[in-house]
Amino acid sequence: MSSVVTTTAIRGRFLDIQNTVAQARDIHDQVRYVEDGLLLIQQGKIRWFGSWVEGQAQLTKNQPVEHYPNQLIVPGFIDTHIHFPQTEMVGAYGEQLLEWLNTYTFPTEIKFKDKSYADQIAHFFVNELLKNGTTTALVFCTIHPQSVDALFEAAERHQMRLIAGKVMMDRHAPEALMDTAESAYNDSKALIEKWHGKGRNLYAITPRFAPTSTPEQLACAGQLKTEYPDVYVHTHLSENKNEIAWVKDLFPEQKGYLDVYHHYGLTGQKSVFAHCVHLEEHEWDCMHATESAIAFCPTSNLFLGSGLFPLQKTWEKNVKVGLGTDIGAGTSFCQLQTLNEAYKVQQLQGDKLSAFESLYHATLGGAKALDLEDKLGNFNVGKEADFVVLNLHATALQKLRQERAKNIEDALFALFTMGDDRNIQATYIYGNKAYEQSN
Ligand code: GUN
Ligand code: ZN
Repeated sequence: MSSVVTTTAIRGRFLDIQNTVAQARDIHDQVRYVEDGLLLIQQGKIRWFGSWVEGQAQLTKNQPVEHYPNQLIVPGFIDTHIHFPQTEMVGAYGEQLLEWLNTYTFPTEIKFKDKSYADQIAHFFVNELLKNGTTTALVFCTIHPQSVDALFEAAERHQMRLIAGKVMMDRHAPEALMDTAESAYNDSKALIEKWHGKGRNLYAITPRFAPTSTPEQLACAGQLKTEYPDVYVHTHLSENKNEIAWVKDLFPEQKGYLDVYHHYGLTGQKSVFAHCVHLEEHEWDCMHATESAIAFCPTSNLFLGSGLFPLQKTWEKNVKVGLGTDIGAGTSFCQLQTLNEAYKVQQLQGDKLSAFESLYHATLGGAKALDLEDKLGNFNVGKEADFVVLNLHATALQKLRQERAKNIEDALFALFTMGDDRNIQATYIYGNKAYEQSN
């Protein structure tokens, strides 16, 4: 008996970027806008994509079609840096990075020793991602292995592609929030064996940042990377000037902050460094040479007063970059809000961030930063069917503005400037509707 493979059919207005590019100016040529399109999905993957006129003949007689005539459908948003345990502490007043960690962050993360508490926040967190159209994220948990279990269990319920890991931290933190070089190695190894490649889950070796790991622990992180070359490395780099000075004090034998990670074998094609606001020239060169990626976190960099990230430099130096919300130093789960702030950060440096470049960073560029561009980021046949249905008229003001939009680029730019979670009408994960806004 042959099993019946069900096909999901989605009709609507689609927009994506067809290929990765080496220069921002090349993005325009890769924009694919299908005003009346059809997306066919089988077993979570895209089986066919094109215009409704060309595609409709493939539909069987009673095939249901989900039609979104007035919306805009784009690939799911990709968040390349976020902390799930910090969900409850967005908007913590008054401090910059190092004081903010001690005053607010560490006390919050201690709570995640309790698995049921971690479960509760993981569930909230995953729902919040979906509500904001984020379909994939690279996530910090806490030092507690059970926090990683909680998150992957919550993501698995939606078949979400998530990358996450246990934080490694064996100095300069409260006693209750420290592991050791050896326990971090053993716990991370067990979690890799348990979760990496299970369903859509992927694991990231996660030393918090150089100041909170001893050289022995960084060596253990490097050892894990050698043993499991296809797992990710996820950490922070050059976010704040006091942090950078501290790293130089702690590791005087290294030329700079990135050299610490590089020395321990933690750079590479699956390494993502959050922030990179103040990189030196030789560090840009090392990022490029090692094919490491940056998570640009504008709302966080502004909120903590960390500085203005030079996005232009990623193009000049050919360094991969994605967008990160960095909740809870970041102030919104929403990539639309994140792009709104990203634009202003470029304006303050005399640079422009176009709507299509913004779309690229939030989708295909983010996928490339996570080394997942073969699986995610656009509507190419064979890719995983993660996408978002956007309502461009979520408020009266948006409707007024959108009715006057000159073209799709202008409409998109207005969405990125004014949009938030009210614009997310539905979020699809692996071909299934995982979230729908209730009015
Ligand atoms: N550097 C080390 N830990 C953190 C963190 O939790 N958030 C941010 N923004 N930077 C960090
Ligand atoms: Zn962070």
